[in-house]
Amino acid sequence: MSLRSIKSSRSLRLTLRFVIPLIAVMTLLAYLLVPLVDKMTLKWSVRDLDARSRLITSAFQEPLGELLLQGNKTKINNWFARVIQDERLYALGYCDGTGRLLYHTASFPAALGCSLPGTSSYDSPALLQLPRGLVHVAVNPVSVDGVSRGSLMLVHDMSYAQRRSEDTRKYIVVFFIVLCLIVSFITVLIAHLSWRGWIAGVRMFLRGDEINRSFPESSHSELQPLVGDLKALLRAVDAEKRLDDDMTFTWDAAALRTLLHKQLMGDQIIVVSNREPYIHVKTAEGIKVNRPASGLVTAVEPVMRACSGTWIAHGSGTADYDVVDKKDHVRVPPDHPEYTLRRIWLSKEEESGYYYGFANEGIWPLCHIAHVRPVFRTSDWLQYMAINKRFAAAVISEAQRDDPVILVQDYHFALLPDMIRRAMPRATVITFWHIPWPNPESFGICPWREELLKGMLGSTILGFHTPFHCTNFLETVDRYLEARVNYASSTIARHGSMTLVEAYPISIQFPPAGHARLPAIAQCRDYVRKAMNIEKTCLIGLGVDRLDYTKGIIERLRALECMLENHPDMVGRFCFIQIAAPSRSEIEDYQAFDARVRALAAQINLKYSAPGYLPVHLKVEHHEPEEVNLYYRAADVCMVTSLHDGMNLVAKEYVAARDDEQGVLVLSRFTGAAHELYEALIVNPYHIEQTADALYQALTMPVFEQQARMCSMRSMVSNFNVYRWAARMLLDAARVRQREKLADRIGVQL
Ligand code: F6P
Repeated sequence: MSLRSIKSSRSLRLTLRFVIPLIAVMTLLAYLLVPLVDKMTLKWSVRDLDARSRLITSAFQEPLGELLLQGNKTKINNWFARVIQDERLYALGYCDGTGRLLYHTASFPAALGCSLPGTSSYDSPALLQLPRGLVHVAVNPVSVDGVSRGSLMLVHDMSYAQRRSEDTRKYIVVFFIVLCLIVSFITVLIAHLSWRGWIAGVRMFLRGDEINRSFPESSHSELQPLVGDLKALLRAVDAEKRLDDDMTFTWDAAALRTLLHKQLMGDQIIVVSNREPYIHVKTAEGIKVNRPASGLVTAVEPVMRACSGTWIAHGSGTADYDVVDKKDHVRVPPDHPEYTLRRIWLSKEEESGYYYGFANEGIWPLCHIAHVRPVFRTSDWLQYMAINKRFAAAVISEAQRDDPVILVQDYHFALLPDMIRRAMPRATVITFWHIPWPNPESFGICPWREELLKGMLGSTILGFHTPFHCTNFLETVDRYLEARVNYASSTIARHGSMTLVEAYPISIQFPPAGHARLPAIAQCRDYVRKAMNIEKTCLIGLGVDRLDYTKGIIERLRALECMLENHPDMVGRFCFIQIAAPSRSEIEDYQAFDARVRALAAQINLKYSAPGYLPVHLKVEHHEPEEVNLYYRAADVCMVTSLHDGMNLVAKEYVAARDDEQGVLVLSRFTGAAHELYEALIVNPYHIEQTADALYQALTMPVFEQQARMCSMRSMVSNFNVYRWAARMLLDAARVRQREKLADRIGVQL
């Protein structure tokens, strides 16, 4: 059915719905009113005729008195005949005082005599139905020289009153028909106009427009005060529904797969990230597969295994090229393939400009408050644009339909969403920003701030870890772009497209992959002690990070040093293992940081080591996830002291690894994780003494307290696992897709 015919049938239905009841009401009114008006018209006519009769009688008193005195019957009858030439006066008669009809016109009704119809009194007028029609009879006294002589009977023709009544009835019916038509017309017109107004208002509402911006004084103003409230209400309902779902539904790989098939009809999923989930490297023993130290990979990989689809990423391994097919595809995980990895090749120069330069010397320090200055170079920006374009082309070539769901990961691809949107307007682009988003002032120092924001606004959904980062982003767009930012609905409308900005706290697989195969806690302890040459009596602290200045490794080591200083009894009884995966080592700031960490560790070791005892074990090397898990299970305390961190999945990994419900987490308040893991010992890493105290508290915490805290954190991570993270985004995407499809069908532009 065309839009036009939908509209006309809607108008017809609307018309009938208004007009039929209106006609019914009008008919009822007319039905009640006509007899009433009839009655009143008759009453008026009778009153008229009464007055007329009295007037005639009084005018005739004198001539009639004289004629009566003369007693000439013929004369009187002739005079009566002349009088009734008046068209309304039909007959006249004269009755004497005894009630005898002495004189009368020929037309005088014989049946009438001297009495009034239906009454014995001569004083009151009456109506009489004659074969010729209705007549009015009035009896008025006649006196001669002040002496009452008899009465004059005046019979008036009432047919004119009946005609008048019929006319009035006709006028009333015509009046009601006309009134009915006018009211119907006005009603339908108003309904039509306001319908159109509401439709326009609702369209704008759906688009997320603020109505008063486009139509400041328009007829839609009645919607304006409602829009904010309505949207806030919808979000509240949504949040409540979500909370309900959060409390009652367990998300796992199978549930995520079901969601994909039910809500997204099995639509194709494409993930884009810079870091690949599996890196093939050449070693002396042949090609080996590494898994990178990346929170992004930790989170997205289990989701990808559940969803299948294609993951597009930079092929950075030395043997990556050797294992791909003609389309640069390789099926992964290598042992039991579940999805396709499409590799993108970058030259050294491209990697240096796009990845090391713009992404990691520019955007990374820009978004993290870690007191390292961002560096922006035009040459890096040009590479960043070019590589975003290359990934966009790869997305387009991998898409099997024009409406895939594309999950764009992180700050390496701020321009990608808009590039995809232009090429595939029907695609659903979900961008997740894994790092914090700064306030508008901080972000404003980027020379290409507008370009980055416009690029990101190509996303259908833009996710951050926390509501705070969402608000920062909305405010940044509000400050630097011409766009409609709606804080109530957390949406941004620009150039006819809309982006939902939402918080999706990332998480990990729970229980972790291969958990069942992990050795028991005691075995893990033995393994670690043996590997690191640590005494059995020594408590173990652990840090697991990329060697990055945002992770607060320096502050952590200082806190450790401070704790040993404050509690000399801990010297020889506690040692700290820092696993530090080398990261971005081509960047000067990272090289300097690496040197500072090594120097500080050496300095502490110099101060406190003894034969067979080393307080700090610094392991700057790559560790596979299984091995990291052994360390998690062996550690009495895990320290996460980031200066600024989007989420920090190490905190969640430590909790997930501790199925013995023991061990203590010391956690920086500047991580996203601190908003979820309340039972950790929350610290400000810049405050060295406070962190040192927390470390000591952790090392001396009674087992029952450790259990209570760990148990609660494990329940949190188990419920809010990575499948829920992905499910929330995909459910939102499914909702947007349904809305877009509906809008397509009814011809509304969202
Ligand atoms: O924190 C942002 C992030 O992309 C993480 O997801 C990941 O842990 C890390 O950076 C990886 O960095 P890179 O890919 O540069 O080694």
